[in-house]
Amino acid sequence: MATLFIFGVILKRVLSGIQPSGQLHLGNYFGMMKRMIHYQEENDLFCFIVDYHAMTTIHDGNRLRDNTLNAAMDFLALGMDSEKSTFWIQSDVPQVTELTWILSNVVSVGLMERGTSYKDKLAKGLKANMGLFSYPILMAADILLFGSEVVPVGKDQKQHVEMTRDIAIRFNKTFGNIFTIPELEIDKGSQLVPGIDGQKMSKSYNNSIPIFDDENTIRKKVMSIMTDSSKVDEGKNTDSPLFKIYSLFLNEEEILELKERFTTPGTGYGDIKKSLFLQIMDHFRPFREKRTYLENHKDSVYESLQIGAEKASTVAEKYLNQARNATGLNYRV
Ligand code: TRP
Repeated sequence: MATLFIFGVILKRVLSGIQPSGQLHLGNYFGMMKRMIHYQEENDLFCFIVDYHAMTTIHDGNRLRDNTLNAAMDFLALGMDSEKSTFWIQSDVPQVTELTWILSNVVSVGLMERGTSYKDKLAKGLKANMGLFSYPILMAADILLFGSEVVPVGKDQKQHVEMTRDIAIRFNKTFGNIFTIPELEIDKGSQLVPGIDGQKMSKSYNNSIPIFDDENTIRKKVMSIMTDSSKVDEGKNTDSPLFKIYSLFLNEEEILELKERFTTPGTGYGDIKKSLFLQIMDHFRPFREKRTYLENHKDSVYESLQIGAEKASTVAEKYLNQARNATGLNYRV
């Protein structure tokens, strides 16, 4: 049973893996992290940084190490709590690689060949390594090793979770009912965050506003948000990246006020950008302070991750042992 009872309330085991993809920006935060951190309040949250997955594309030890540790510090600074949830680094629980091998034997090559992210990479002319090819099996192992009931992901990961369900069903049919069949939760509520050029905010478009960079860099980015040529004495466009980014920080009432400010002539874009900058700094101040603290106290980061790895291992061992028994790897009778 994956379900945890606290004060008589049933908490669902929600699990998600996060790519350690470099410098954190507003798009990551409002698109996914904020929601993920909130999950720990009402669920039995299992959340981890997927360094094994990242190595399918990052072939530079220092970069993988930095990205992994930075992603962990970002989450901890933003409120991930190793008491309330189980938060760890994927490779600290290496049992997942053994389960990947076990599962590989019930996965057909054809299923992997239908993988859209694998096909996309090939179409872009990238040479696929075996890690990339069997990426979905590692992801299935991630999900099944912890008895996950719900897996919240973005649309791009839908197929991977469906493959996980197929793999679990196939395994259970072959070896007995061991794995929980996870439910997919496509996140509709997540907000699309435009970058400073109006396209989707993404590190690869170089249009993002970082959260933990120095103040000047953040100010410069905010001041360079794309605007149209309306003058101070004209109304301004609310269907613009500036309006949309600003709204992320506001409640409904404040959004109406911002709309007023945009549509009433008299304010220049420069002034609006300055207040957005202040709003961003205000919003993230406590998190930025925590982030700096963690950077200077790596031991406390390692300690939180250690707690997470231990909690995760305990659950992993249980499922792995059942899979070893069922498949005949535990030979002592
Ligand atoms: N593949 C996911 C992504 O790129 C990350 C991931 C790895 C994941 N393992 C997972 C997500 C398990 C959910 C559950 O975003």
